[in-house]
Amino acid sequence: MGMIRPRRSQRLRPRHCPPCSPPLSPRHEALMTYLAGGPPPENLLPMLAAIAPAPPPMLLTPPVVVLRPISQVRQNFHNNCEASINHQIHLELHASYVYLSIAFYFDRQDQALQRFAAFFLWQSREEWKHAQALMELQNRRGGRIRLRDISGPDHHQWESGLKAVKSALQMARMVNQSLRNLHQLATSKHDAHLRGFLARHFLRQDVQFIYNLGASVSELRKLGARTSSLAEYLLDKLALGASKKS
Ligand SMILES: [Fe+2]
Repeated sequence: MGMIRPRRSQRLRPRHCPPCSPPLSPRHEALMTYLAGGPPPENLLPMLAAIAPAPPPMLLTPPVVVLRPISQVRQNFHNNCEASINHQIHLELHASYVYLSIAFYFDRQDQALQRFAAFFLWQSREEWKHAQALMELQNRRGGRIRLRDISGPDHHQWESGLKAVKSALQMARMVNQSLRNLHQLATSKHDAHLRGFLARHFLRQDVQFIYNLGASVSELRKLGARTSSLAEYLLDKLALGASKKS
């Protein structure tokens, strides 16, 4: 009678026994029991910390910092003043963009308010010149110009001359407030050149421009621009042509 050979699943050992793994430590064994659903071992947290992977080694070399070369002409020019001038350049360009939109809205055939169009076109060029003057100042003082995307006007249908002039007045007041903030910053940083530059080339002109816009709004209201387009026609023919020369 021949010997009964056990089936493959009943063999206790494979033909080639794998190398035995080292015996588990009592701590490791308790942890494995816990992970299999057993009771939690004592000092669970220190055990988990002991088997956690080691943190990456610290960098021996510090991160590379790219230093911006400082201009040789830079003197008593604070970084905040430099950043605020770049912000003001952006505002002046945005204002120029909005006035340009108003100018060519009134130049349309169905609006035909040529003096309105000429007034806002002239002011758009003024704001563009202001931006250029600030860029020149930035270079003269050793700053760096940082241009951003110019955002357009909030709407493209200005509806009436009164609404356009009121929007322009709001824009002029906002640009002037930013200029005054820059002037105050220059004062706090003892930057006499920047303070004098703003007062000489910007603040006086902006005050006059805001006054002209405010006067135009008052005249349009008195002429009844809310109910009649005749007021816009009269202001277009009589007043704005004179005010753009001031
Ligand atoms: Fe301006």
